[in-house]
Amino acid sequence: MNICFIMYPWEAIDPENDTSLALIKECAKRGHGVAMCTPANLTIRDSVTNAFCKVIGRMDKVPSSLKAFYNKAKLRDEMLPLAGFDAIFFRANPPLDPIMLNFLDSVKDDVFIVNSLQGMREANNKLYTAAFGDAHSNIIPNTHVSKNKDYLIQQIKDSKADKMILKPLNGFGGSGVILIEKSAMSNINSLLDFYINSGDGNTNYVILQDYIEGADQGDVRILLLNGEPVGAMRRIPGSDDHRSNVSAGGSIAKHSLSKAEKALCKQIGPKLVKDGLYFVGIDVIGGKLVEVNVMSPGGITYINKVYKSKVKVEERVIDFLESKVLDQLQAFDRRARLRKTVEDA
Ligand SMILES: Nc1ncnc2c1ncn2[C@@H]1O[C@H](COP(=O)(O)OP(=O)(O)O)[C@@H](O)[C@H]1O
Ligand SMILES: [Mg+2]
Repeated sequence: MNICFIMYPWEAIDPENDTSLALIKECAKRGHGVAMCTPANLTIRDSVTNAFCKVIGRMDKVPSSLKAFYNKAKLRDEMLPLAGFDAIFFRANPPLDPIMLNFLDSVKDDVFIVNSLQGMREANNKLYTAAFGDAHSNIIPNTHVSKNKDYLIQQIKDSKADKMILKPLNGFGGSGVILIEKSAMSNINSLLDFYINSGDGNTNYVILQDYIEGADQGDVRILLLNGEPVGAMRRIPGSDDHRSNVSAGGSIAKHSLSKAEKALCKQIGPKLVKDGLYFVGIDVIGGKLVEVNVMSPGGITYINKVYKSKVKVEERVIDFLESKVLDQLQAFDRRARLRKTVEDA
């Protein structure tokens, strides 16, 4: 099978901890062809969607360590048609480029894409969870999303809690996630102006969310494959930060899913599968869903490390990819045979 990873550049990979690299290595280990490109590398050539790819040369023996694999990999440049791949694994960071999705629309019936384009369109930012239809805050913390500064300030004032979380709709890695304390509101006007008006001349939505008590003890990252949990870890914030993201200084520990977390996965799993969100990472605090990461969920390497797992998460992900591709190839085959029967009649 041949897989194209649409992702951040190879040079931006952290060779010790990168989840995309773990998935790529697993593909290479199984003898699959792997190519990579960035979203900006998609190109129409003679009316066919292509990509300027970096193709990983086949290795006789794939090293077991991620870093050794990264260092040994030999990349060559090729322009390749996307419809010639069996699968596309999308692993780029937010924000999602809608034009890039239009390129992929042209191949979505030919190639199995993780996550589905429809799913990524729906869930590429934090509005996916904010608009979960959970008016009683059973699943997600009470949330407001708006560009209206006066409305947001009023919500902070009206809130019974003495602190709230403010974050941009499009961030990742903890960037821009701040704790607002009701007792210190002198900066809020300026902050909201900055959050709403910074950027390319367009205004931005801001999320205001109830602070979930216990967040200082960390959050839980759960990886879900085809709607089922396949790995989990606890992320504990550093001593001088309220955010648990590893990129914001959080550390990692083992975590067995609580009853509430298992129930949450059961509740949201079917929707994720229906939306074509086959491989996602959810962030959970106190049993409440804070975020569904669908574009480039990380955590595989950390989960493998803390569990010293025999079955590695990336093996399960690539097993799933292989089975989906097989299903699709069999469906193509069947259709070709049926068409032939009709043609020959
Ligand atoms: N409502 C909340 N209550 C408490 N802590 C939160 C809340 N929302 C976010 N955080 C903290 O900030 C981190 C990053 O927030 P998240 O919404 O997951 O955005 P990002 O996309 O940047 O990871 C979380 O992992 C958590 O530690
Ligand atoms: Mg997060």
